[in-house]
Amino acid sequence: MNGLSGVRYFLGFFAAPDGARFFDRVRLSPAGEAWTGEGLRLISGRSEPERYSITGVSRDGGFVLDLAHDGCHERLTLSAETPDVEACFLGSLVRTGDDTALAYVLEEAPAVRLDPSPTHGWGTVAVATVAKGSEMLVIRGPIGDTQTPYSFRTADDRHVEPTGYGHFVNHACEPSCEIVYRPDGRPALRARRALEPGEEITFDYTATEGELAGSFACLCPAERHKV
Ligand SMILES: C[S@@+](CC[C@H](N)C(=O)[O-])C[C@H]1O[C@@H](n2cnc3c(N)ncnc32)[C@H](O)[C@@H]1O
Ligand SMILES: [Zn+2]
Repeated sequence: MNGLSGVRYFLGFFAAPDGARFFDRVRLSPAGEAWTGEGLRLISGRSEPERYSITGVSRDGGFVLDLAHDGCHERLTLSAETPDVEACFLGSLVRTGDDTALAYVLEEAPAVRLDPSPTHGWGTVAVATVAKGSEMLVIRGPIGDTQTPYSFRTADDRHVEPTGYGHFVNHACEPSCEIVYRPDGRPALRARRALEPGEEITFDYTATEGELAGSFACLCPAERHKV
C-alpha cells in the first residue's frame, strides 16, 4: 500500500443478509489528521443513488470511516490486509441499530468509475483520457469453479467473481477494451484504442467466456451483434 495521503477514490461492494447488493462510490480527502468525503450508494435494481457524507481517521494503515445518511449512521472499519480477495482494503460495515457486520471490499480505482450505461444498468467508464494499451482495471475477487453472469473466465472451469468495478463491465461487440492475463493469471482489461473521459469500458464476453451464464439480447451500439 502507498501512504495514506492524497485524495482517494474507492468502490465499496457488499451484500446484505437478505442477499441485496450495494455499491458505495467513495471520495475521501485528507483534512489534517482526519479525512472527509462524500459517497454515493448504488442499490442494485434502483436507479437513484443515495448520497451521504463521510468523516474518518486513518488507523494502523487502514481507516475508520463514519457514514452519515439521512437520520442514519454507519461505521466502516477497514484494514489494509486483504489476502483473500486481493483488494486494497477489506472492512466491515456496522449500521446503527443493526448488529450485523457486513463484509465490505474497497478498491482504489484510479482509471475507472461507475456511471449509468446507455447499454445496460451501471457500467464502468474511463475517468481520464487514456492511451491505447493502458491497463484500465484488474479483475479482483475469489476464484472458483462457478461461472456467473458477472464472472471472468481464467482457465477451464476457473472463474473470478469480481468484488469491485469488474462486477459492472458490460459486453460490447466492438469493445473499447480486451482481456489480458497478468503473470499471476488474473485477468485485466486493456484499452484497445485511446479513450476519452466518460467512455465506457467494455469487452467482448464471447472472446473468453464460451457459453454465457446469463443470456441477453445485446444492446451495444454496434450494427451487428455477436450475442
Ligand atoms: C457483469 S453484468 C454488467 C453490469 C450491469 N450493467 C449491471 O448494472 O449490473 C452483465 C449483465 O449485464 C447485462 N449486459 C451486459 N452487456 C450487455 C449488452 N451489451 N447488452 C445488453 N445487456 C448487457 C446482461 O444482463 C449481463 O448478464
Ligand atoms: Zn452488440
